[in-house]
Amino acid sequence: MRVAFVAAEAAPFAKAGGLADVIAALPKALAALGLEVAVFLPRYRPIPAHLPERLRFRVDLGPRSYEVCLLQGVLPKSSVPVYFLDQPELYDRPGIYGEGDQDYPDNLRRFAFLSKAAVEAARELAWVPDIFHVHDWHTALLPLYLRAAGLPAKTVLTIHNLAFQGWFPLAAWAELGLAEEALALAGQGEWRCALRAGILAADALTTVSPSYAQEILADGLGLDDVLRARASDLVGILNGIDTEEWDPQRDPYLWAPFSAQDLEGKARNREALLRELGLRGEGPLVAMVGRLTEQKGLDLLVAGLARLLSLGVSLVVLGTGEARYAQALREGEARWPDRLRALLAYTEAWAHRLLAGADFLLMPSRFEPCGLTQLYALRYGTLPVVRATGGLRDTVRDVDLGGNGFVFEDYSPEAMLAALGRAVRLWREHPQALAAIRRRAMAEDHSWAGPAQAYLCVYARVLSR
Ligand code: ADP
Ligand code: GLC
Repeated sequence: MRVAFVAAEAAPFAKAGGLADVIAALPKALAALGLEVAVFLPRYRPIPAHLPERLRFRVDLGPRSYEVCLLQGVLPKSSVPVYFLDQPELYDRPGIYGEGDQDYPDNLRRFAFLSKAAVEAARELAWVPDIFHVHDWHTALLPLYLRAAGLPAKTVLTIHNLAFQGWFPLAAWAELGLAEEALALAGQGEWRCALRAGILAADALTTVSPSYAQEILADGLGLDDVLRARASDLVGILNGIDTEEWDPQRDPYLWAPFSAQDLEGKARNREALLRELGLRGEGPLVAMVGRLTEQKGLDLLVAGLARLLSLGVSLVVLGTGEARYAQALREGEARWPDRLRALLAYTEAWAHRLLAGADFLLMPSRFEPCGLTQLYALRYGTLPVVRATGGLRDTVRDVDLGGNGFVFEDYSPEAMLAALGRAVRLWREHPQALAAIRRRAMAEDHSWAGPAQAYLCVYARVLSR
């Protein structure tokens, strides 16, 4: 079976969030099952332009015609080819989606182009896949261009985050070379929605956890009618993690390697982290890693910050995002210099160090389609403290129920602080029990092997229709 992944992000080439981790890892897991897989990605500015050139061809998009050069690379530590669509006018820019907090105004055109050009590239390569697997609104229009091109492939659309839907004014849609019927799938009004079109046109739909699948059928954020219409074609498949990339025994970013059998190294990472960050260590060290947005529960954190620190923990937050949250964290840091550190940057190395060296990971998300950081944390014996939503609900069970972390239901600072309070008590009063839970968490299997099988079933079902 041949599968083409088409997406806006893939680590390590272009990453804004978990989507990039998925596109870097799932194709490898599918290849390990014997599938022939390739990834199509724009050549953004940081991606080298001197990669081997496979093809040059032209793609028309509405009134414009573009020359595209197809460069060939490979997903690291694999033989999965990555085809970079080199079109400087659209992609040779500093950002993936925009700069600062401004999206590029031509994003609809940029990602419609990616969708259409990937179909054309497959044809030009004479490598027509059985399945085009597309991701989020960015490539949700691919099924429309595929139909127009008349290629026999099927399509699977994965929704990583329903909050991003790709709404654009009709004037922008008019320039994409889509037929009237195709355009109608994006809605009727003056503003139309790329994800809506994809939900209607793809052969199958998936999202990134079973709970999130249920949540979006209950509240479709304005896309309720089309999601419910396609409910029988939607499945939730939990994300996995790349267990080579996130391996506490072989992680080059850490101060010391460790494993479930030898937690000594974890303690050394904790000490180094406290020292490097200048934080007090007589209580537990709590970490937060992620985008500073409402989705990730930053409202709760900011509202509960003083009470959280009064539990006697030290807190380190690694993240970039909205200025109001960054500002609140900066102010907190000035007020509690030996208790709170805000690393307001995007750094892979510190993400690994925090997830390895902290005692607990705080993830009080308002909503969370899957979430990867809690899975990385579990693999590093850092117990997650999470709100029960989406993929967090599906991956973290409360220690009171024999589970691997601390779970709270209400989206309130009080509920968050109660869960964190239980974690702190366990740390203080029952260190042996805590170590046993850490070891159990580290032994859980969150690899991509299982999820890859589930995707294979989806592909097979679509092809058998
Ligand atoms: P989302 O995709 O909603 O942002 P996920 O938990 O699925 O959330 O994935 C986030 C990914 O981005 C993880 O790999 C996480 O380690 C990484 N990440 C987020 N913020 C940062 C940061 N400031 N520095 C380094 N890595 C980060
Ligand atoms: C989205 C979601 C996140 C998920 C990631 C990868 O960014 O916000 O929960 O883990 O996609 O699927």
